[in-house]
Amino acid sequence: MAATSAPAARSSTAVGAPAERREGPEKVTGRARYAAEHHLPGRAHAWPVTAAVARGRVRSVDAARALELPGVIAVLTHHNAPRLAEPDDPMLWVLQDDRVPHHGAFVALVVAEDLETARAGAAEVRVVYAAEAHDVVLRADHPGVYEPEQANAGYPARREQGDPEDAFAESTVRVDARYRVPPLHNHPMEPHSSTARFDGDRLLVHTSSQGTTAVRAMLATAFGMPEERITVGAEHVGGGFGSKGTPRPDVVLAALAARHTGRPVTVALHRRMLPFVTGHRAPTLHRVRLGAGADGRLTGVLHEVTTHTSRTKEFVEQAAVPARVMYAAPHRLTVHRAVALDVPVPSWMRAPGEAPGMYALESAMDELADELGMDPIELRIANEPDTEPDSGRPFSSRHLVECLREGAHRFRWSREATREGPRLVGQGVAAATYPVGVRPSTAVALALPDGTFTVRTNATDIGTGARTVLAQIAADALGVPLERVRTEIGSTELPPAPLAGGSSGSSSWGWSVHGACTRLAAALAVHTGPLPPEGLSAEADTTGRADAESPYARHAFGAHFAEVAVDTVTGETRVRRLLGMYAAGRILNARTARSQFVGGMTMGLGMALTEGSTLDPAFGDFAECDLAMYHVPAHADVPDIEAHWIDEEDPHVNPMGSKGIGEIGIVGTAAAIGNAVRRATGVRFRELPLTPDKVR
Ligand code: MOS
Repeated sequence: MAATSAPAARSSTAVGAPAERREGPEKVTGRARYAAEHHLPGRAHAWPVTAAVARGRVRSVDAARALELPGVIAVLTHHNAPRLAEPDDPMLWVLQDDRVPHHGAFVALVVAEDLETARAGAAEVRVVYAAEAHDVVLRADHPGVYEPEQANAGYPARREQGDPEDAFAESTVRVDARYRVPPLHNHPMEPHSSTARFDGDRLLVHTSSQGTTAVRAMLATAFGMPEERITVGAEHVGGGFGSKGTPRPDVVLAALAARHTGRPVTVALHRRMLPFVTGHRAPTLHRVRLGAGADGRLTGVLHEVTTHTSRTKEFVEQAAVPARVMYAAPHRLTVHRAVALDVPVPSWMRAPGEAPGMYALESAMDELADELGMDPIELRIANEPDTEPDSGRPFSSRHLVECLREGAHRFRWSREATREGPRLVGQGVAAATYPVGVRPSTAVALALPDGTFTVRTNATDIGTGARTVLAQIAADALGVPLERVRTEIGSTELPPAPLAGGSSGSSSWGWSVHGACTRLAAALAVHTGPLPPEGLSAEADTTGRADAESPYARHAFGAHFAEVAVDTVTGETRVRRLLGMYAAGRILNARTARSQFVGGMTMGLGMALTEGSTLDPAFGDFAECDLAMYHVPAHADVPDIEAHWIDEEDPHVNPMGSKGIGEIGIVGTAAAIGNAVRRATGVRFRELPLTPDKVR
């Protein structure tokens, strides 16, 4: 495997091994408890009432009939709910005033002895609104379009080098194409839920979150309590895909209801509520212009993105950012524009920025290859940059060419379209990229007299295998068998650690685990005699490294290949094969890494063919808000998927040499499928998803 800067890690084989996930048996036998499954004595259940208008005020709430139902304990509204200090995210300031910022916002909460009664009670609450005219329709020529200072994640909204307009106009070969990605919803298998209980002056919470450190900080602010008196646990989490990356209103509602009633309260959101209160990927309108010489060398890359944000908080999908990373060109423009609409605050969804941005850029690269009559792989290779095009920094490592070449070989890449009866068959390729993130983290490692070890850090395992991977990192650093290492994660009682997000979890937590275990190993090496009964411990507080401070541009890269069959009678596109080839630093666990790549590609398949939501202009709501309407790929949709990687060594990321793998699988997959549809049919579609009604 790759060399790392960690001497202790070189001698062992635990890291990289396909270790089985540790909580697997608990999950498949139903013993794993999720946030709504903590059956505390006296626990009540709450069901929210959601706004039926997209903009306006709550004029009155009549809870009388709900309160008459046997089993209803209380109905919270903005009149009687406990007061909260305003947190950073306005979506968390629930039941505090009469303002309706968007359709589906919470306007009341019914607390009852059981879930069914709470739901029945919610149906009896009568809300009268003073509705105001709303606007939820994104257009590139919307009069409210503005250029923000920053896009999401702190990226500058605009970057410009050279003279992109003139360079484009003077190019020998030009592509000027517009693409549209619709609103997308995260829809994790476990809907957002929380159980909260006040115990004297302490608040105890179980919540389905990608990171409880931030949940605790938010609750401390909102409820005006010191963090030390709040415990937030997330022992098992059934997926998040970004929608649980920041605190969500279910945890605030549960705590409000617990404070109001004096009972433990569970709030388990109904799936149909999720699109409105847990974030969405904002729709993006793309204009991509590529100018090139006859040899395929790019002279100008221009990527302009228009997206929506909410009126209450700005969140701008950073979809033009990958065009700053991918291809060499002397003249460049990347810009984000936004319009504030009466929509919920958009939020993180797997590979925010890269997923829609690379759909557009990689589709445009395919169009350019068509214009040039050039192989799309060779076109990409011809435009490989020596340094990061936007910043000029050297790459910490970049093996995109290897991914393209090796992927093409394994996929048996062919530009030939074929016909099988009514079906047109073709292949497509697209590149992928995702930035490397590392955040500050702390961990404690403990050696016990029985020869076992415990590693503690407030990491969250959202179904990725984090527990297992951290044990592998610890075992390597300690130089002991994996079986002797226990990991304790998923509670704010543990050393603070960042969220499972930005594909940075394992690298961030792993760095502190590696540090604590390396120190412990050193302490054990000089320790003489038996260990004291409480064991011997060491801790590490790792700072991570902000990308802007790094002298290197640090990104993972990959290549996606798709083969599709398009039915000329029904318009149905079936993906027959998908292959991902990645250069993502050191792979820490071959089994769980493959799951992440394949999961990301499956989500990209959904983005290409079936997923998408519609903001209803008349009612201001999302039309597709459950899994019957919002089609995520089912087993029958998912073909043979292969994920492979090259053994990449990167000494500039962290002691393990890992880059992060949670998100890159979705990046480029939709473009590869779209490019395959174009190869098969000869027709270019530029609006996702490629449903039969569009393709036929
Ligand atoms: Mo991911 S969208 O950073 O959870």
